[in-house]
Amino acid sequence: MTSTHPSVSLRSLCEPLWNKKVPQRLTERTEAHGGIRAAEKWRYKKSPISFTFLQTGGYRSMKKIVVAVTGSSGSIYAKVLFDKLADLRAQWDAVGVVLSDNARINWELEIGPMDLGAYPFDFYEKNDFYAPFASGSAQYDTMLVCPCSMGTLARIATGLSNDLATRAADVILKERRRLILVPRDTPLSLIHINNMKTVTEAGGIICPASPSFYSRPKTLEDVAATVVDRVLDLAGFSLKSYRWGEK
Ligand SMILES: Cc1cc2nc3c(=O)[nH]c(=O)nc-3n(C[C@H](O)[C@H](O)[C@H](O)COP(=O)(O)O)c2cc1C
Repeated sequence: MTSTHPSVSLRSLCEPLWNKKVPQRLTERTEAHGGIRAAEKWRYKKSPISFTFLQTGGYRSMKKIVVAVTGSSGSIYAKVLFDKLADLRAQWDAVGVVLSDNARINWELEIGPMDLGAYPFDFYEKNDFYAPFASGSAQYDTMLVCPCSMGTLARIATGLSNDLATRAADVILKERRRLILVPRDTPLSLIHINNMKTVTEAGGIICPASPSFYSRPKTLEDVAATVVDRVLDLAGFSLKSYRWGEK
């Protein structure tokens, strides 16, 4: 008999069913894939109900993200994005990163020696078409290009796909998933503007590297965060950020 008493949770009603059906496989997969999050995901896939909700007491969206860093000025945007994504580790399943040659050059010029070893991401070579997100079947759901050069913007707008970053963007668009570009250049030519229009019409989001100042940012990182936080908002992350009008 089903109780409607408020202290009897949906989880406690469903748990026996799941324990009965899948205990061994669930345990194996939990160990093999690094803990309870894998188990939650597996349950979520198999169940018509959101077991992620049941496990955590609230909905949590797990994401597979591609980050491309390209050769425009503004490597600090990429660095702040990396730092924040590392802090948001509980909210994603995989972050695959690809950097162009000029992204590396600009990082060294603007920030200093590149030390990416500490980040919990998967790094791929710029022409590695064996990277999972070179195909739609790997089901990466969001791609961020930050910062995005006008060259990469143009290659995405024309579907050129001649390196991993532009192929991944092509895949994200064809699969109707979320593509967020953070272009940086000034002033803009009509070619740049038309390319932004084309990407927008194809479903991408142009989120220019145009910082805001009403939060009175104190450091360069704070300034960059006014852009990066908007990017992470658009990507669906839950994060603490300055919110206009909030007390
Ligand atoms: C120091 C430096 C700064 C650059 N800044 C910009 C920029 O702000 N915006 C831009 O679109 N391209 C900029 N470029 C040019 C791009 O790096 C170049 O067009 C490159 O081919 C882009 O390719 P990628 O997108 O694969 O990195 C800059 C290049 C250098 C060396």
